[in-house]
Amino acid sequence: MSSVLIISGSPSSTSRTERLARSIASRINAHGAEATLLDVRSLPADDLLNARFEAPSILEATARVAAADGIVVATPIYKAAYSGLLKTFLDVLPQFALRGKVVLPLATGGTVAHVLAIDYALRPVLSSLDPLHVVNGLFLLDKQITVLEDNQIQLEPEVDQRLNGVIDQFLAGLKRVASAGI
Ligand SMILES: Cc1cc2nc3c(=O)[nH]c(=O)nc-3n(C[C@H](O)[C@H](O)[C@H](O)COP(=O)(O)O)c2cc1C
Repeated sequence: MSSVLIISGSPSSTSRTERLARSIASRINAHGAEATLLDVRSLPADDLLNARFEAPSILEATARVAAADGIVVATPIYKAAYSGLLKTFLDVLPQFALRGKVVLPLATGGTVAHVLAIDYALRPVLSSLDPLHVVNGLFLLDKQITVLEDNQIQLEPEVDQRLNGVIDQFLAGLKRVASAGI
């Protein structure tokens, strides 16, 4: 069974991105893979801001990245790029932390003006960590994500379909890697 780590990079306590990450975990688990969530916001800010590579919290989070076959990176768009919080975490990862892994990039944003931020901002940073494959990502507008009373989210049907589509591609990539024994 492939293992997937979903990294949420929003600093918000009422984050849509984090809720989206939880929904993706459920969808991936329903496909028989094992997905868990790493909310960067829950890591000690002091360790992240001082780039304490050897801090227990950072070592533990880094080990979770190393142990996963696939990584989903979900971030809100801040100032036309990924969040600073996400970058503090990516910065403390080893140089080739994504080697051999399949990666799915996702972003939520407030305006379609930044729909390409995944490709011009996030993808190059992820590529520098030497992933095997970064599959097609998805940008969701915050208004397309409705937070329900039970804290679950509801997506517009067309967005829901596109999300399932990128998850399918991601899982197919993981299967190919598993069957090739990479
Ligand atoms: C400080 C800040 C900066 C933002 N900058 C952008 C931006 O440049 N482009 C954009 O599309 N959305 C921008 N947004 C909107 C957020 O990306 C959007 O609401 C996102 O869904 C928030 O995710 P979250 O609820 O997980 O934090 C910004 C929001 C904040 C709080």
